[in-house]
Amino acid sequence: MMKLFRATRIRLHRVRRAQHLRRGFTTLAALGLLSGLCIAGTHAASRNLAQGSGAAPLASSQLSPALAKVLADIRAKDKNQLSVAEEDGRFLRMLVASTQRKRALEIGSAYGYSAIWIGLGLRDTGGRLVTIEIDPARAQDAKENVKKAGLTDVVTVISGDAFKEIPKLTGTFDCVFVDAWKRDYLKFFDMTYPRMDKGGIFLGHNVVNKKSEMTDFLTRINTSPDLFTAIMSAPSGEGVSISYKRR
Ligand SMILES: C[S@@+](CC[C@H](N)C(=O)[O-])C[C@H]1O[C@@H](n2cnc3c(N)ncnc32)[C@H](O)[C@@H]1O
Repeated sequence: MMKLFRATRIRLHRVRRAQHLRRGFTTLAALGLLSGLCIAGTHAASRNLAQGSGAAPLASSQLSPALAKVLADIRAKDKNQLSVAEEDGRFLRMLVASTQRKRALEIGSAYGYSAIWIGLGLRDTGGRLVTIEIDPARAQDAKENVKKAGLTDVVTVISGDAFKEIPKLTGTFDCVFVDAWKRDYLKFFDMTYPRMDKGGIFLGHNVVNKKSEMTDFLTRINTSPDLFTAIMSAPSGEGVSISYKRR
């Protein structure tokens, strides 16, 4: 009887010790988690202090202050709002850089705003852009702005009618961006498509907000079996079509 009583006491003692240890572990784990959160919180707080509270990602990693000024000045003077939206410019830069474009053509430079964004992407790939503007005064502005952006070795501005200037260009294109008068998009597509490399991309601007002015072009790029086409209504809502030449 005494033996049984002692054995039960020992078992009870072991169970209590195990419970105690488990509680200890749980408390330690909770403390560890809490202190981890506190440390992470402290780091986040100091990051916010460094960037300014509620800071967006640092713009300087994307654009130097000098370039940001050149682009902002173009927008400020662009009373007719011909330039693509800033988000579309960023999108074009990212697209040409990430898909390693090398021989790009832009139809409709206006003041060089989109050409600068495309040029910044091509700066990364070692590529070149030819951009054509029919209005001589705008073409001159575009040249000056490209120079201010430090991109004269990447971007060439041609003053003239793209219908006449494109046949004078030599070689093929791996990226064509059309942003001229909307009724001409299909004509420019037909003109440049035979000179686009397999794997080339044809980009059209304003394909959402001005789609009624280019239904023939949109039908073509959306139905051709030789293309993969996507319409990006974002980022700005103006819309960019991207057609990939499969063969
Ligand atoms: C919407 S603006 C271009 C804006 C420019 N892509 C930007 O985002 O900075 C259209 C431009 O195309 C030009 N354009 C229209 N038809 C053209 C043609 N056949 N050849 C060259 N440029 C043309 C116009 O003079 C106008 O400046």
